[in-house]
Amino acid sequence: MFNLKQFIEDCKGKPASAVKELIGEALHDPASVKAALDAEFAGRDLSKASIADLICYRSPTLTVLKAATPPKFKTPPHNHNMWAVIGTYEGQEDNTFYRRSGKGLEKAGGKDLKTGDVVVLGEDAIHAIANPLDRASCAIHIYGGDLLNFSGRSTWNPFTFEEHPYDINLLMDYCRQLMAQPSA
Ligand SMILES: [Fe+2]
Repeated sequence: MFNLKQFIEDCKGKPASAVKELIGEALHDPASVKAALDAEFAGRDLSKASIADLICYRSPTLTVLKAATPPKFKTPPHNHNMWAVIGTYEGQEDNTFYRRSGKGLEKAGGKDLKTGDVVVLGEDAIHAIANPLDRASCAIHIYGGDLLNFSGRSTWNPFTFEEHPYDINLLMDYCRQLMAQPSA
């Protein structure tokens, strides 16, 4: 069985490559990861949860959170300025990657994470995530720093690729605008 407390202990002080191995191994049994994360948040209504509400562990060098994305959820491009490891344990999380280009961004590939898949994002990664399904998707996200330290981070207007200082209210506003768009 996946033990969340032990997993967090095992992640402490490790580089992204080792964390990828750890979560990759755990995701051979996605149902066990789901059971542990469900138990962690049992009895809590996550329908209006903020990022802070979904954090299982937070320190200056490590953040572990449950990324629960509603059906058809989409984020604008944003960065973290720290490495990240994403492992999907229920549903699907599509990642689009970007690189800086002139004053904006250009797309630089993507990875659709189906249940059991893991991806590593480098410190300078810029990504947007989307749940393409008609049901909620869940992933465990591990970051090599304090995710709630927003200083120096950016979010980008998903329609113009204009860069803005990271602001959770602006990011959520872009999420709502993206989800209001007719799907292509
Ligand atoms: Fe992200």
